[in-house]
Amino acid sequence: MRKAVILAGGTGSRLSPITRIINKHLLPVGQYPMIYWSIFKAKEVGIREILILTSREHLSSFIELLGEGKEFGVCLKFATQEQASGIADALSLAKDFVGDEKFLVLLGDNLFEDKLTPFVQQFMKQKQGAFILLKEVAEPKRYGVALINEETKKVTKLLEKPNIEEPAYCVTGIYMYDKSVFSYIERITPSKRGELEITDVNNFYVNEEKMGYDILDNWWIDAGTHDSLFKANCFVFSKKEDVRRAL
Ligand code: DAU
Repeated sequence: MRKAVILAGGTGSRLSPITRIINKHLLPVGQYPMIYWSIFKAKEVGIREILILTSREHLSSFIELLGEGKEFGVCLKFATQEQASGIADALSLAKDFVGDEKFLVLLGDNLFEDKLTPFVQQFMKQKQGAFILLKEVAEPKRYGVALINEETKKVTKLLEKPNIEEPAYCVTGIYMYDKSVFSYIERITPSKRGELEITDVNNFYVNEEKMGYDILDNWWIDAGTHDSLFKANCFVFSKKEDVRRAL
């Protein structure tokens, strides 16, 4: 796999007022701005071409901070999403960058410990389709959730922020796709919250039985709230210096 798309747009409303003038993905996690961790994770699997999607308002800050990616040994490109109209809307902007290749998508506010290499290898063996990574969470209401058939172990449906009280498998913001993702995005309509939902796109793959998945073994967090941003920092600073750099 050669290419990754990192999403760093949205409004960051759950982190207001900090995000009123600073993009969420530029806030500190450990000794780095949050966006660094996604770049490290993409690089760790050998990806060298990365497209960062953000809002027009914050584009100049990203360029100033990251430049062309020399510091990381990767090639960075940038594109802007005019309005925060959803993850799938943002992803549609990556069509030309991706071309016909299979690619990785990372939500820039997702931080995690697992190395992605084995999952990428698993997906590359899959002839076509998509691949998601799941993590059991106590509060599934905040996330996309995967329903799994206990016998076949297949994902039967994905639900966005369902009213489920008991622990469930959350769909993390780590996705892998083939190029058909762009035609699926064209077929979906905005949800009740007015966004093009990645969950609706992923359900096309589920219905066509082309959705692979695995479960993350180690620490994962969506750092999009005050509480989880604090937890992410506690986690990173709890590690020894060398581990912190290699996380
Ligand atoms: O963290 C995992 C969850 O992320 C998944 O379980 C959900 O299925 C998925 O919908 C998403 O839920 P959130 O409500 O947490 O998404 P959020 O609005 O926080 O956006 C996630 C990332 O995508 C964040 O890094 C900003 C970026 N984004 C978001 C929107 C709405 C964009 O770049 N553009 C956008 O329009």
